[in-house]
Amino acid sequence: MLAHKKILLGVCGGIAAYKAVEVVSRLRKCGAEVKVIMTEAATKFVTPLTFREMSAHPVTSSMWSEVTHHNVEHIALASWADAVLVAPATANIIAKLVHGLADDMLSTTLLATAAPIILCPAMNTNMYENNVTTENIIKARRLGMHVMEPGCGGMACGTTGKGRLPEPVEIVKELESFFAAKQSMQGVKVVVTAAGTREAIDPVRYIGNRSSGKMGYAIAGEAADRGAKVVLISGPALLPPPPGVDVINVETAQEMQDAMLLQYDGADIVIKAAAVADYRVKAVASQKIKKSGDSLILELVKNPDILKELGKRKKHQYLVGFAAETNDLIDNAKSKITAKNLDMIVANDVSLPGAGFNYDTNIVKFIYPDGQITSLDKLSKQEVAKKLLDEILARKNK
Ligand code: PMT
Repeated sequence: MLAHKKILLGVCGGIAAYKAVEVVSRLRKCGAEVKVIMTEAATKFVTPLTFREMSAHPVTSSMWSEVTHHNVEHIALASWADAVLVAPATANIIAKLVHGLADDMLSTTLLATAAPIILCPAMNTNMYENNVTTENIIKARRLGMHVMEPGCGGMACGTTGKGRLPEPVEIVKELESFFAAKQSMQGVKVVVTAAGTREAIDPVRYIGNRSSGKMGYAIAGEAADRGAKVVLISGPALLPPPPGVDVINVETAQEMQDAMLLQYDGADIVIKAAAVADYRVKAVASQKIKKSGDSLILELVKNPDILKELGKRKKHQYLVGFAAETNDLIDNAKSKITAKNLDMIVANDVSLPGAGFNYDTNIVKFIYPDGQITSLDKLSKQEVAKKLLDEILARKNK
């Protein structure tokens, strides 16, 4: 997996920087070419000379040293890499990265690269568990970065807990599976829906819901990361489009259905995470409705049930629905599997804190037509997306 891959290794200032030397050695043994950028703090722990000898390339640590390419150095390195691995990744570099700060060679290169970024956090347990770091790691994942779980154990500072840099052999394995995963869905077309639909009342008002699109965008991003061709049909959302995904923006349930039916025949996997309005206003006012009287009655008519229609037309597609419930989660979800002819439903009890609409996390159950249920703990939506795709691929290829 790593043969001929160009890996740019960012080394930050932490006691675990010494382990990065072995990472270089192992990557090269696997056939990868490695170049190293060190932060200034990292050079206090390990000398650039060590990395230069291990990588057989000059090491960059300053924006202002002699350039080795005619290109601007950070841009040259940023575009050279097939992947950028940051190990150890300190709380500081993760914070800079997710806030777009670029004040040294490593942070500037990270901002400039289009290559995938893999972070291996390593820091004191309290720093790792600080809410700010937790938020930053969630954001890094949401932005499409791959974040390795740190190890647990005794730390150099004398404490015990989570925050150790994983062993070099584990880091290299993670990188191998990262590249393997990138190819695991090549040739597969995935269509995902996300966010809530909006049904107009008049030119300025609409009926909508609280879906942010985070769940669907995470699924689309993960499928693209695995090499799938991904089309994301999205209701209005404030999220950046996931890299490598074709986004079709829609507003109403009818527009979502029209867009979906155009994609459906060529799709291998369809995942409907969108929250679609079941009803729309019968007669949309052409002008802003003026306030008059103590009440206003709107007549609503049924929208198309997109998923049900897909279930009717299903041929080779693996069809996955979501169920957002506030009561009788399993029974309600099971009846949707049957009514909509689904291969699987992802049920979330949206009355639980940390589950469903607008959270960065979700708590879901995968339910199958044969009644089998897999329950997941509270996970980031990116982790849910990973587990969902693992599960779909395992079942689809049976
Ligand atoms: O976007 P986030 O803020 O991250 O929130 C994620 C989520 C809560 C929206 C997501 O996890 C979720 O549960 N999505 C489905 C919400 C929903 O509308 O559930 P439902 O039980 O009403 O619909 C069941 C399924 O039928 C869904 O797959 C829905 O897309 C589909 N449907 C519903 C109505 C309709 N007219 N057409 C449909 O296709």
